[in-house]
Amino acid sequence: MYTRLVRRLRSLELTGFDEYCDLIHRRDHDELVELVNAITTNLTGFFREPHHFEYLARTALPELMRRNPCNQRLRLWSAGCSTGEEPYSMAMVARESVPQGAGWDLKILATDIDSNVLAKAQAGTYPEERTDGISAERLRRWFRRGARSNAGLVKVDAEAASLVTFKKLNLLDTWPMAGPFDVIFCRNVVIYFDKPTQKALFDRMADILVDRGYLFIGHSESLFKVSERFKLIDRNTYQKEV
Ligand SMILES: C[S@@+](CC[C@H](N)C(=O)[O-])C[C@H]1O[C@@H](n2cnc3c(N)ncnc32)[C@H](O)[C@@H]1O
Repeated sequence: MYTRLVRRLRSLELTGFDEYCDLIHRRDHDELVELVNAITTNLTGFFREPHHFEYLARTALPELMRRNPCNQRLRLWSAGCSTGEEPYSMAMVARESVPQGAGWDLKILATDIDSNVLAKAQAGTYPEERTDGISAERLRRWFRRGARSNAGLVKVDAEAASLVTFKKLNLLDTWPMAGPFDVIFCRNVVIYFDKPTQKALFDRMADILVDRGYLFIGHSESLFKVSERFKLIDRNTYQKEV
């Protein structure tokens, strides 16, 4: 916290934390946004924890489509999406499993509390090395290489990008969306929350998921003694109990 906030003090030319606290207590809107942006941890990557994307493609999406042949509606949510690599990876996998023109209404909501990461996510442009490890087939299908002033950058293909809507949302506030969602990715976000906060959050996630909807959480997270509304079905992968 110190290292992150001292940078704010320097750029505001403040002499100490007391002055910074005064600014925050005055509820200076711009600085509140900067404070949140400074203290969030945004580490992410395309197809991070790849077993989740394999499970989504091989098991969750086919099962959801079998279950809802008449409804033909699929809603996915990346809660704590950071710079966008997670929801774009979800979009790529979903489009590979649910081809355009197959009649499915497929949408992905991607939310984060940090306005800086959301702006990067929305742009969908990344340094080429961020795609290291992605198969040649996926690179060809889902990324466009930049030329001239954009050399060294890649842009997520419009077909995948068009599935994703980015919105600013603090997960601890009221949620404006009605749902229901079929799949929620909430990975590497709740590590910063205490147990009662995690419990309340996963309870609300259970409420907004369809019965037997899927919840993916991060590798160092667990619902053990946090929520009894989900059953563990794979690595850090849960299904809502009916
Ligand atoms: C470590 S990143 C994880 C990104 C992605 N889910 C992944 O696993 O690759 C955590 C993200 O959660 C966001 N975050 C932290 N607290 C949040 C909150 N209360 N509401 C919404 N987003 C939050 C941070 O801004 C950050 O972008």
